[in-house]
Amino acid sequence: MRLLSPAKLNVHLRVARPSPDGFHPLLTWMCKISLFDTLTFERTNASGRIVLTADDPSLACDEGNLIVRAARMLDAALRDAGEASRLEESGLAIHLQKRIPIGGGLGGGSSNAATTLLALDQLWESRRGRDFLAEVAAKLGSDVPFFLHGSSSVCTGRGEVVRPIAPPAAGWACLCLPGLAMPTPQVYRQFDAMRSPTENEPLVSRTGSYGGETNCLDEPDWSDWAMLPADQLMSKLVNDLEPAAFALCPELREMQAKLERSIGRPVRMSGSGSTLFSLFDSEDEATQACRLGIRKSVVVRLCDDRWEGTSPEP
Ligand code: C5P
Repeated sequence: MRLLSPAKLNVHLRVARPSPDGFHPLLTWMCKISLFDTLTFERTNASGRIVLTADDPSLACDEGNLIVRAARMLDAALRDAGEASRLEESGLAIHLQKRIPIGGGLGGGSSNAATTLLALDQLWESRRGRDFLAEVAAKLGSDVPFFLHGSSSVCTGRGEVVRPIAPPAAGWACLCLPGLAMPTPQVYRQFDAMRSPTENEPLVSRTGSYGGETNCLDEPDWSDWAMLPADQLMSKLVNDLEPAAFALCPELREMQAKLERSIGRPVRMSGSGSTLFSLFDSEDEATQACRLGIRKSVVVRLCDDRWEGTSPEP
């Protein structure tokens, strides 16, 4: 079984001060994009064994890899639900073809984990459905449940509460891939340090993007936003992690400023970085922006439903 594992963009990302468990309540609009890893799954005779290989030698393919953890966690969840262990019946050989940059804020690892859950639900004929898989997914990582749904969703909680919404009419993006791996936990720690929160501080944004002082987790009218032309939508989008990521990596701030000057419109960061992007109404405009871009730039399509679910690679 061979499946595509798409990347995501955090089109919009608001972050509140951390809850007692250390995680940050979020409000994010995420969209799948046409940048994919490919995963191949095969049963083997080696009962209990999972052999993961990857074409990228820098990837750790051990038991700590999110793909292996996803397979083991699904097997355990099925056993907890009273079913026989699938891994005892037969082992697994999984191969990962990596194209999504690592540490790029594009959710590659989370997408791989979600694709593994969807693939094994079929391969193991457990057919448990999305709610069962979503519980396992949330234990694997905050972004994993998003990838079990359609291509455009608002995610809240720590990111694991997923609500599908209309995709943006501005359906193309120019991505700038700086080739830098940003460490997500460190970016969140820097975010906390820069906010220097006090015990009773309300969840109020200092950069309220919807006009005036607002709770940063208040939701805009998503159906309005989805219909906006790209230039109007870009002017509303925020990523609260940018100041923290730029403090850790000033080169990224310079790249953003340079890119904004050369393409003449706002540029945002995805997730905790390092990918920078701007949205466009057409492929031609996105291509033009990529020509003006710096470092490695690629044009991607947002939310094309042809890649949905577990459809095989075209
Ligand atoms: O959930 P995930 O393992 O992807 O999160 C990686 C790290 O990002 C966490 O260990 C935490 O430091 C940070 N994080 C956070 N608040 C969130 C999501 C992630 O602080 N809502």
